[in-house]
Amino acid sequence: MFIHEIFTENFHDGKVRGKSRPGRVKRAGASCDGSVTSLRAKAKKYGGERGKMYHWCANMKGGRKKVSEVNVDTAHDPEELTVKQTFIDYFTSKGYKMLGEGRDQIAFLTPRQTVLKILGFGDEQRERAVEDYVNFFLEHQTNPYYPKIFNTQRFEHKGDSHFIYETEYLEYVANEEDTLDWLETYMDLLARGGPEQAEQFIEEEGIPSEFTEEDVRGVTQATQEIQEKLAGYIVDLSNIENIRRRKNGHLVIVDPISL
Ligand SMILES: Nc1ncnc2c1ncn2[C@@H]1O[C@H](COP(=O)(O)OP(=O)(O)O)[C@@H](O)[C@H]1O
Ligand SMILES: [Mg+2]
Repeated sequence: MFIHEIFTENFHDGKVRGKSRPGRVKRAGASCDGSVTSLRAKAKKYGGERGKMYHWCANMKGGRKKVSEVNVDTAHDPEELTVKQTFIDYFTSKGYKMLGEGRDQIAFLTPRQTVLKILGFGDEQRERAVEDYVNFFLEHQTNPYYPKIFNTQRFEHKGDSHFIYETEYLEYVANEEDTLDWLETYMDLLARGGPEQAEQFIEEEGIPSEFTEEDVRGVTQATQEIQEKLAGYIVDLSNIENIRRRKNGHLVIVDPISL
């Protein structure tokens, strides 16, 4: 079904809706100023969160054509899974636009305004982790704190195969730096300190006006459920890129595992 759609659908142009994250870039000591090439060089030089932010800036600035460069650059990085260039070219030629690149996956906005995630390869354990949580989401589609998963499959193209899945488009959590900090701290406390510490943080700091108590409770329960059901994996939601928001404001966990 999904393959059929990809190959036969008549595509109209999708718009990239991803917003910039100047706050996180700045906090990491990076900057989006300069040429794509220089940003790429800095990404390599610094690594870590700072490098990641330079990398992100380069991606956002470089636009569609430069996506290939980004991947060639990182293809041999043992810290990142690799997505075959032929796959990126293939989807780009179909009008898919890159939304973001994590260490394991690339997210594209499809012409249907959904999100296609391509899981890279290079480390079986890490690949399995992503497939496991995607399947977990699939089994828990009634929980609104998990993303809708429309399709999952292994996709073969020119002799290579990637696990791909189609999910809903989700927005950034907030533009307010304080709100992002709050959520990062809260999620970090929840995962590492446990629910009591997280609860105490709320008592001391309150909840930002952008979130409802119900939101926070929901995402807390969802996190605990993941910790319980995906035992053996380290749940890590302290990176704000891994929690997003539905258009109606609902918080959604997109990438819960850290390996
Ligand atoms: N559903 C989505 N809607 C919009 N952007 C997304 C979505 N899922 C992921 N992204 C973007 O793609 C990036 C990589 O996705 P993620 O699931 O975090 O992959 P990784 O496992 O490699 O960290 C994210 O940081 C985010 O910017
Ligand atoms: Mg991620």
